[in-house]
Amino acid sequence: MTRSPAPFPAARMRRLRRTNALRDMVQEHQLGTTDLIWPVFVREGTGVEDPIPSMPGVARLSIDKVVAAAARAADLGIPAICLFPYTDAALRTEACEEAWSPENLTNRAIRAIKAEVPELAVMTDIALDPYNANGHDGFVVEGEIVNDETVAALVKMGLAQAEAGADILGPSDMMDGRIGALRSALEAAGHRDVTILSYAAKFASGFYGPFRDAVGAGTRLVGDKKTYQINPANTAEALTCVARDLDEGADMVMVKPGMPYLDICRAVKDRFGAPTFAYQVSGEYAMLMAAAQNGWLDGDKVMLESLLCFKRAGCDGVLSYFAPRVAALLRA
Ligand code: PBG
Repeated sequence: MTRSPAPFPAARMRRLRRTNALRDMVQEHQLGTTDLIWPVFVREGTGVEDPIPSMPGVARLSIDKVVAAAARAADLGIPAICLFPYTDAALRTEACEEAWSPENLTNRAIRAIKAEVPELAVMTDIALDPYNANGHDGFVVEGEIVNDETVAALVKMGLAQAEAGADILGPSDMMDGRIGALRSALEAAGHRDVTILSYAAKFASGFYGPFRDAVGAGTRLVGDKKTYQINPANTAEALTCVARDLDEGADMVMVKPGMPYLDICRAVKDRFGAPTFAYQVSGEYAMLMAAAQNGWLDGDKVMLESLLCFKRAGCDGVLSYFAPRVAALLRA
C-alpha cells in the first residue's frame, strides 16, 4: 500500500531517515534467524569436510559432521536444515535404486540428526539426480525423461525419507503429479503429519552450476533440464504450477532461484498466501562470495541485504548457504 505524501516541504522523507532509532522504528520488514533453512551436503566417511571449490566456505560433510552442523543450527536458532547427498560413483545407476534405500546417505543422516538434535526440523530433497548415472532428476528412457515412472520412484524415495524421520519433504524434480502421488502415499503409510515443501516454481536456471558440482551431478548431466523445469521467461506458468501443487497437497511452496525471481515470490505470496520460501541457490551464493573475496563487495552487507529483500518480496523464509553465517551475525 502506498500513500501520496504531502508536497514538499511538509513532507520531508529524510526526517525519518535521520537516526538509527528513527530508521528502526519505521522499518517495514525484518530478517531473523527463524527465516532461515540451511542446505547441507552429505558424503561418506568420518570426520570429513570436503571443500567445494565453486562454493567457497561450503563443504561436503560426513554424517558425524552433519550432526555437528545440526547442533550448531539449533544452537543458532535456525529452525531447519536441508540435506543433499554426494553419492559414491558406484551407487549412481540408470535405475537409481539407491534413491529409496533406507540406508542411503540422506536417510542415515536424518536418523543421526534426529537421535542427537530432535528439535531441529530436517528437510530432504526428492529428485533422482544425486543417484542417476546421467545426472537427471528423472529416469531417462531413450533420451526422454519419463514422467510417470519417475513419479513412482520419487514416491518410494519420499516414503523412505519419512520413515527415517524427515519433517519436511522437498520434491525438486518438477515431474507432473508428484505432489498428489506423494501426499496420498504418505497418508496411506500413516505419515499424515510429514510436510511437503514443493519446489513449485522451479526454473531451468544457469544458477545451479555449483550445486551440480557439489552433488557430483554436473559432469554427468546429459543435455539440460528444460523439458521439466520452467522457462525463466514465464510468470503465468510458474503461478499455475504453484496453484496445482497446493491443490495436490503441498503445505508450503518454493520459488527457485531466488534473487532474479523476486517478482515471482511476490506474485506467489499475493495470489496464494501460502507459506512461501525462496531458494538462494548455489550460483547466487558463488556470485556474492566471489565478489566479496575479490574485495569488490562487502560480503556481510550484501548477504544481509539479499536475504532481507526476500522478506520484502513476501517470502516467509529462505534456503541459503549463508544461513549459519547470517545467524551468527544476527545474534552478535
Ligand atoms: C535438483 C536440485 C538442484 C538444486 C536443488 N535440487 C539442481 C538442479 O535442478 O539441477 C539446486 C540448488 C542450488 O543450486 O543451490 N534436484
